[in-house]
Amino acid sequence: MPVYTLPELPYDYSALAPVISPEIIELHHDKHHAAYVKGANDTLEQLAEARDKESWGAVNGLEKNLAFHLSGHILHSIYWQNMTGDGGGEPLAADGVGELADAIAESFGSFAGFKAQLSKAAATTQGSGWGVLAYEPLSGRLIVEQVYDHQGNVGQGATPILVFDAWEHAFYLQYRNQKVDFIEAMWAVVNWQDVARRYAAAKSRTDVLLLAP
Ligand SMILES: [Fe+2]
Repeated sequence: MPVYTLPELPYDYSALAPVISPEIIELHHDKHHAAYVKGANDTLEQLAEARDKESWGAVNGLEKNLAFHLSGHILHSIYWQNMTGDGGGEPLAADGVGELADAIAESFGSFAGFKAQLSKAAATTQGSGWGVLAYEPLSGRLIVEQVYDHQGNVGQGATPILVFDAWEHAFYLQYRNQKVDFIEAMWAVVNWQDVARRYAAAKSRTDVLLLAP
């Protein structure tokens, strides 16, 4: 039994067009995301084999592979839910997402400041990476992270609630080398209801980081 499974898309391949073409969504979900799911499961099996044989020569590479594939699976699972063909704009109290709007204003000064920071973080990734809005439980603030590959350059313990995939596989077939244009277009499909739901869940859970001795 595999530990991780590929989640179904919450919409059909054409739901995010013209921002993201059906061809990209199909390849991205069915091939790239699927490969991270398989990679995470395969790596867990290889680690189990290493324990059985007490053969630790490859443990360094296996731990790196686990971080890469598992983080890829988690970020893509959030990514699909973060988008909708009816999205865009900014979070507003009138739409029932006032708590998220307030948190963004408190953490970044304004929605415009937040949008600029996340856009820049995503667009200036060197090589492969992500721009991520995350809830950081020690401070109770939202922060932006510029993630390398799927797993690097993150603060431990923060929960991603809005993720922009800045890997070339996310846009190259449609936007060619215009990563900045792709990131700008992404704002038109953000599902603020989903981001607000994730913010509320991250904020309300009893985080292990906050447990008193
Ligand atoms: Fe991706």
